[in-house]
Amino acid sequence: MSRIIYPTTNLTAIEQLVIERGEGVYVYDNQGKQYLEGLAGLWCTALGYGNEEIIETAAEQMRSLTYSHMFGGKSHPAAMALADKLGSMVPVDGAKVFFGNSGSDANDSLVKMLRYYFNAIGKPEKYKIIARERAYHGVTVAAAALTGLKPNHTHFDLPFEALGVLRTGSPHYYRDALPGESEEDFASRRAAELEELILAEGPETIAAFIAEPISGAGGVIVPPATYFEKMQAVLTRYDILMWDDEVICGFGRTGHDFGASAVGIQPQMMTLAKALSSAYMPISAAVITGDMYEAMVQPSAEVGVFGHGYTYSGHPVGCAVASKVIEIYERERLFEHAAKVGDYLQARLREFASHALVGEVRGMGLIGAVELVANKDSKQAYANNAVGSFCQQSCEDHGLIIRAMGGNSIALCPPLIITEAQVDELVTKLGKALDATLDFATAEQLQVA
Ligand SMILES: Cc1ncc(COP(=O)(O)O)c(C=O)c1O
Repeated sequence: MSRIIYPTTNLTAIEQLVIERGEGVYVYDNQGKQYLEGLAGLWCTALGYGNEEIIETAAEQMRSLTYSHMFGGKSHPAAMALADKLGSMVPVDGAKVFFGNSGSDANDSLVKMLRYYFNAIGKPEKYKIIARERAYHGVTVAAAALTGLKPNHTHFDLPFEALGVLRTGSPHYYRDALPGESEEDFASRRAAELEELILAEGPETIAAFIAEPISGAGGVIVPPATYFEKMQAVLTRYDILMWDDEVICGFGRTGHDFGASAVGIQPQMMTLAKALSSAYMPISAAVITGDMYEAMVQPSAEVGVFGHGYTYSGHPVGCAVASKVIEIYERERLFEHAAKVGDYLQARLREFASHALVGEVRGMGLIGAVELVANKDSKQAYANNAVGSFCQQSCEDHGLIIRAMGGNSIALCPPLIITEAQVDELVTKLGKALDATLDFATAEQLQVA
């Protein structure tokens, strides 16, 4: 057993699979067995594995400038080019970009920038952030507090109150709608609840509302029709910023450039990571409006410095790789490809809607989930995640990597370069695993919630 403390792992069940190499949409374990990477690593390897053009870009950048920091206004071409490119892509007015290393640290950076900004404009009391149940925003202290999933909170004693984190309901129509409630009525109810929370807390105390366009780790939750339109209207009414966490949805995942375009969000803040570099290098970007940035300029001069930054903020290799990755997305028209193959994936996944274990199939573009339930009619859930874990293992046995999450939802998020033939392969393997899982669930007489 190695000395690694495994991340997001049941520490009694480690080193179950040792992955040694990858090529295209496939990875290979230390026994040489091939797996279709049905979750693109952790929703991130959009261009798949072993792309020589990206590898060459990284090598070239390492040869010319391995590292340079950005403290004190020092800069380098790779970071400047990437910031300009991102600024031209994101739907944020006058976008300014802060580079980091992960989705979590980008979210933490925005928590801090919100405070800096509202202090700068003389509204220090406006610091609270509304986050949602079932959301995932990462695991650094502030990001974990924004996350709405129990395993990321339990035993960690997170400082929710000090951070001003408020919680509102998730947009999970299948799980959270009232009996007989339409999608639109559910969306209206969520917007009304948001307004109630804002009024109860005092709108003048609330800085922002954070949301993933489609929640990933919570079980791939696609918001119901009109949801974001209604939520955004409430936020606008009370002068609360819309913070769009695009860590999974950004760069084509939904078949659109950003999840914001897919679900109708007009953000003032954005978090980008994962597909920003297609996971060839760790890099993230926290985006704010030009107005927010301008307000922070003079206060930084008074202190002497905008006192936030990482050693690896704007790492040249990460930036060069990200620029190349975006160039490939554009050149190969991969967002359109994701929309087209995504439609195919969604149609094929819906064939599982009639499977005895499947309560709901949902998704958009190249992200989706199949939720496993004890009773299709009543939507009754299983008491624990045994059925999802079994299915995950069975997929692996059949040469498919996926993750069971958000209870017993089998999440799918293959690399954007996947072909229709490879989608067929994914669906065939998942189908075999679902049948094996049904046999298991029947034989074990699993407990229901
Ligand atoms: C929506 C979202 N935000 C933030 C994060 C955190 O990113 P990281 O794991 O790079 O810190 C994730 C990771 O899965 C995510 O899905």
